[in-house]
Amino acid sequence: MNTQRSRGPRLVVHGGAVLRGSVHVSGAKNHALAAMCAALLTDEDVILTNVPAIRDVDTLAELLVSLGATVERVAPGTLRLNAASVSQLDPPTELISENRASFQVMGPLLARFGRASSPPPGGDVIGQRPIDVHLEGFAALGAEISRVGERFVARATAPDGRLRGARIFMDYPSVSGTQNVMMAAALARGHTTIVNAATEPEVQELAHLLNAMGARISGIGTQVLEIEGVDALHGVTGRIMPDRIEAGTYAIAAAITGGAVDLCDAPVTVMDALLAKLRAAGVEVEPTERGLTVRRNGDLRAVSFQALPYPGLATDLHAPLAALLTQARGISVIHERVFDNRMLYVGELRKMGAEIVSTGSSAIISGPTKLHGALVRALDVRAGAAVLLAALVAEGTTIIDDIHHLDRGYERVDEKLRALGASLERI
Ligand code: UD1
Repeated sequence: MNTQRSRGPRLVVHGGAVLRGSVHVSGAKNHALAAMCAALLTDEDVILTNVPAIRDVDTLAELLVSLGATVERVAPGTLRLNAASVSQLDPPTELISENRASFQVMGPLLARFGRASSPPPGGDVIGQRPIDVHLEGFAALGAEISRVGERFVARATAPDGRLRGARIFMDYPSVSGTQNVMMAAALARGHTTIVNAATEPEVQELAHLLNAMGARISGIGTQVLEIEGVDALHGVTGRIMPDRIEAGTYAIAAAITGGAVDLCDAPVTVMDALLAKLRAAGVEVEPTERGLTVRRNGDLRAVSFQALPYPGLATDLHAPLAALLTQARGISVIHERVFDNRMLYVGELRKMGAEIVSTGSSAIISGPTKLHGALVRALDVRAGAAVLLAALVAEGTTIIDDIHHLDRGYERVDEKLRALGASLERI
């Protein structure tokens, strides 16, 4: 956990502005990171458009370069990746520990080169985040897994250095686990079935990208993926889907300030769970030709929800929604059912006056409460979003420390909010 008082820039937010106007939704972090790892599966160019300019993308790009790949920003939002000269199969610890997605280089490296090693991945401190699903998947595909110091080493045992298709049951429908094992299976010899696969839209989009590279994956979007392994994959140009979590965060920003915001390019068809909760809370949400309009005129009502795997309400929207519910009349009850330590935001919202208690993986919020400015921290990317949303309606000035967490997942968040009328600066 980050124990320093303050690192790098802070956000200073003056609460009270009502957000109006339109905001463009950026490319999805979790799709972009997985798609960048997929570039390791081929020696041809992979060109990705609509890639968000966020810190996690920069870190992963650095990691891919450390392996011998080239990553060029050929236009704003467009990356050209080429992994023809990859020679390093043991990514450096300091880059792997920066974020969770970096462990997804393992599957592609193992499948293409027959060997890879990595320390356990980093990322937000939102739970134990084991990697057993990834490792058991690799083992089922014929890899021998050993531990050398802090590193997990995976090696294909077949004489030809290739993985072998297998029937795999995932103990938990892990998002990055499914992506990692699916990428490995795409280049395995023979047929793989993944039972209890994650169905998140970002997993589906990765599968479509792999198919566009020559993979043979079916059952996309269901809990059973069928993968016919191929000998090689080729280059591709693919567009990163819009970020449903970023879109959701701006929808909540409109709702919490009692404003009206158009979310251009919002991926409405994969946002059902959030839209249902916003409507239940008294927020008007209307799909439009360009995306989504979110507006609130009346009072907010308390709603209860559980954070679940897709198509349930995304755990990444738990903390932002909790910030909204501090302004809703009544008692809201939240159950977190994906991560075991998603509650870091609770203490920060309490500093701002929220009446919220947490027990284990649940939170109970009484509202509405008048929030006030405070010195708070962005303890992880979504806890950071929660305090930022709260700061928009707090009386007075809120200073948010550790905003490098916010920058991991939100592109130009301060600029985008300012364009909607919020009063905040980065110092
Ligand atoms: C991804 C997303 C993250 C999102 C999460 C859930 C990326 C880079 N990050 O994280 O933003 O919040 O999905 O939608 O895509 N688990 C195991 N064993 C494993 C792996 C996971 O038990 O081997 C458990 C975890 O402890 C956790 C749950 O599965 O309780 C969900 O984790 P997972 O789906 O793997 O999330 P990530 O892929 O890390």
